[in-house]
Amino acid sequence: MNKNNIEIPNHVAIIMDGNGRWATKRGLKRSEGHLAGSKTLEKTGVHILKKGVKVLSVFAFSTENFKRSSEEVDYLMNLFIDMFTKKVKEFKKNKIKIVFSGRKFPLRDDVLSAMYKIEQETKDNTNGILNICLNYGGQEELIDASCKIAEDYKKGKLDLSTLTKESFAQYLYNDLPPIDLLIRTSGECRVSNFMLYQMAYSEMVFTNTYFPDFDEKEFDTVLDEYQNRNRRFGGN
Ligand code: FPP
Repeated sequence: MNKNNIEIPNHVAIIMDGNGRWATKRGLKRSEGHLAGSKTLEKTGVHILKKGVKVLSVFAFSTENFKRSSEEVDYLMNLFIDMFTKKVKEFKKNKIKIVFSGRKFPLRDDVLSAMYKIEQETKDNTNGILNICLNYGGQEELIDASCKIAEDYKKGKLDLSTLTKESFAQYLYNDLPPIDLLIRTSGECRVSNFMLYQMAYSEMVFTNTYFPDFDEKEFDTVLDEYQNRNRRFGGN
């Protein structure tokens, strides 16, 4: 704990940006940047959860990313399958539970079955949660939650006057704690439709590093900055 009494954040979220620029700068294909980014996630993600962070959410693929070339989209989808079926060994070894946030449609069947398999394999793990946001949009999540609420109301299962911030969160893709620390790499300072509900009071840190170069040491520097912030949650 530090002078502002801020401990390890419960929930850290990362917008893993800059894979393409990292590759282009080295004369490599964009896909090689994504591959390097996946290795960074495996190493740095385990480090973050080992620090005592309970939930790590990462933005792997947005609903808008389908606008990219079919070559890049296909590469990423194959990389996800490869990660979920053969890699993420470190996460499994460390007993980390893997969950997904996002819409199922229009993900390919082979991607969906790899997602399902790893969720099943890790569902009883208790050393932290890795929430992978795949085909995810924050506004879409709020629309989908609103539809589920409307259905429960229609069936008489929900009394609208009892809805609270916490009970609303149960209608999101996963019922996770609020984000304490949001990190975006690559120098871009925007939230790009990432976990809008969950980041209401998150502290934000934007680093200039392209995601493949982000590492344990840089996370510790970001954590230090977070721990020196004065969080007031609207109070004084
Ligand atoms: C954004 O960088 C990154 C992505 C759209 C893909 C992120 C995916 C990974 C890091 C792989 C993670 C793997 C798993 C299993 C979750 P960009 O391509 O927009 O970079 P640019 O802005 O420099 O072009």
